[in-house]
Amino acid sequence: RHISLIGAPTDIGAGSRGASMGPEALRVAGIHHVLQSHGLEVRDTGNLSGPNNPWQPPVNGYRHLPEVTAWNRSLHDAVYAELQDGRMPIVLGGDHCLGIGSISAVARHCRDTGKKLRVLWLDAHADFNTNTLTPSGNIHGMPVACLCGFGPQELIEIGGHVPAISPKWVRQIGIRSVDEGEKRFVHEQNIEVFDMRYIDEMGMRSAMELALALMDSNTHLHVSFDVDFLDPDIAPGVGTTVRGGPTYREAQLCMEMIADTGRMGSLDVFELNPALDERNRTAEVAVDLIESLFGKSTLMRK
Ligand code: ARG
Ligand code: MN
Ligand code: MN
Ligand code: MN
Repeated sequence: RHISLIGAPTDIGAGSRGASMGPEALRVAGIHHVLQSHGLEVRDTGNLSGPNNPWQPPVNGYRHLPEVTAWNRSLHDAVYAELQDGRMPIVLGGDHCLGIGSISAVARHCRDTGKKLRVLWLDAHADFNTNTLTPSGNIHGMPVACLCGFGPQELIEIGGHVPAISPKWVRQIGIRSVDEGEKRFVHEQNIEVFDMRYIDEMGMRSAMELALALMDSNTHLHVSFDVDFLDPDIAPGVGTTVRGGPTYREAQLCMEMIADTGRMGSLDVFELNPALDERNRTAEVAVDLIESLFGKSTLMRK
């Protein structure tokens, strides 16, 4: 396995500043070394660059649309280039608006290679807002909608194919904060959501079994890990904490079950905000969980 780390240091789509420091915090928490210790060949491609955060109010329901577009175009190109090179991209974000650039690149790679795409969205939020539904104008609340073709032209067309993905390919896990209009839209578009109520009643194991079902050797699994997926008790360093998320053990099980499929072809780690963290502990728990995505386990496994 050949891995490329891609830093995308921006908070352009978020409602608080600081996710721009996420890539460095993940490096400080040892992501490179931890992956290497599992026998993976890892190249850190460094950080992308893009416009600064002008911290302006929304225009037409979008905050910072030109800047969000610039960052996502550049991330799209970087992710696509690594995939074409036969490498597995791991995007170190950055806020979740960057899921548009990353996943549109993965979808394009899957079209090129005739693979089926499955997107696992680990998040407290559905990120399925549009400019009319959003309560904030923050584009990190809109990436799933944009990828499904609901959003401004400049964002939905980044991968060269509109829509970039079908809602049928998405499975969301850990959801516990969805805005009023957004709820209706998630339902209308039939997104498969394993919310916290489901996880409480049925357990993480059942949620993951269903979310990972019906993949085959021709499936490319993309994991979009929004760190606010985790309960704020273990992961305080994010801009939009929502209480009642997965515990450490539930999150470990989730990652281990993904690893067991052997199908993960790309990974994004978004929304880590070191400005809100405590002694980098959220970055450390994120790296610990990423380690499990690559097969850390307690005992020998067959
Ligand atoms: N639903 C809220 C909004 O659209 C919060 C979105 C949070 N998204 C995230 N990626 N943290 O403003
Ligand atoms: Mn591939
Ligand atoms: Mn979130
Ligand atoms: Mn998110």
